[in-house]
Amino acid sequence: SKSIKLAILGLGTVGTGVVNLINDNLAELKRRSGRDIIITEVGTRRQRDDIDPSIVQNDDLMAIAASDNVDIVIEVIGGTTLAKDIIMHAIKNGKHVVTANKALLAEHGNEIFALAEANHMHVAYEAAVAGGIPIIKVMREALAANKIDWLAGIINGTGNFIMTEMRDKGRPFKDVLAEAQELGYAEADPTFDVEGIDAAHKLALLASIAFGIPLQFDKVYCEGITGITLQDVNYAEELGYRIKHLGFAVRRSSEDGLQGSAGIELRVHPTLIPQDALLANVNGVKNAVLVNSHPLGQTLYCGDGAGAGATASAVMADVMDLVRVLGPNDRSSHSEHSNHVPHLAFMPE
Ligand code: HSE
Repeated sequence: SKSIKLAILGLGTVGTGVVNLINDNLAELKRRSGRDIIITEVGTRRQRDDIDPSIVQNDDLMAIAASDNVDIVIEVIGGTTLAKDIIMHAIKNGKHVVTANKALLAEHGNEIFALAEANHMHVAYEAAVAGGIPIIKVMREALAANKIDWLAGIINGTGNFIMTEMRDKGRPFKDVLAEAQELGYAEADPTFDVEGIDAAHKLALLASIAFGIPLQFDKVYCEGITGITLQDVNYAEELGYRIKHLGFAVRRSSEDGLQGSAGIELRVHPTLIPQDALLANVNGVKNAVLVNSHPLGQTLYCGDGAGAGATASAVMADVMDLVRVLGPNDRSSHSEHSNHVPHLAFMPE
């Protein structure tokens, strides 16, 4: 059967998580997609015992992005310069792209998506927003026919982890941030997490799908959690509130009187919310997005928002989607696949 060939560019937290997921779930991936999913190229300076060194290199990542031996390019090196060149090159060379790079997409997504469309290629980025929560698929697929009124969410795992540890254990900000870095939650430059920039990137991506608007990262009002002290956290608790760093995207009509203009309001900042609110009880590295839409009403999506396993889950969900896009298997291998579908282990009476 024809295999799906993956290139993985970058073996940091996310790339490592993807390799581990593929190793752990190899049989499951095949059973559920009907195809063998294999890593044919890895671009990294790092080495891993479980990766054949002959497929690893770091000197010509652009060549990997254009390789005949690759169907899908997984960009997880991060940053907005080399990553952009690689993705543009991959698209031009007929590769579908999966990326977790919210900074790149928030800043250059309009250009990248336009190039992908012109070349009939897909750029999938479930992992770029809210880690393992399938919020991109929710916005694009499950809520596709709804009119979104607003969404509000905890969309930075590092920040939520810091706020939770400060509140529960009285730990100093700096110590918890260091732990978040060790756990692989934080960005390479953690000021993106604590200054709200990472959340603003994600909010721009969510809003563009939810409201059908171009990406407008530069329009997001952005405030982080660096100004919050243990005293602030404790006072809020005494008053029956909790401080959460939230992102908001709100549809405003001219009647709202906000500078008299209609449009979408985008902002991220620390917010006092009642302790019994659902979002107040989303703790640690968990993210959550609450959406109000018509006609569905309110829905809440919650789960791990950062870390190797959660992010790899989202990256590989996109890969599995693209396996379907790449088309059905040929007849002979299809029957081979059918033979491998196990019978129900427990037949209902
Ligand atoms: N640094 C990000 C966070 C990683 O903490 O949420 C997941 O996007």
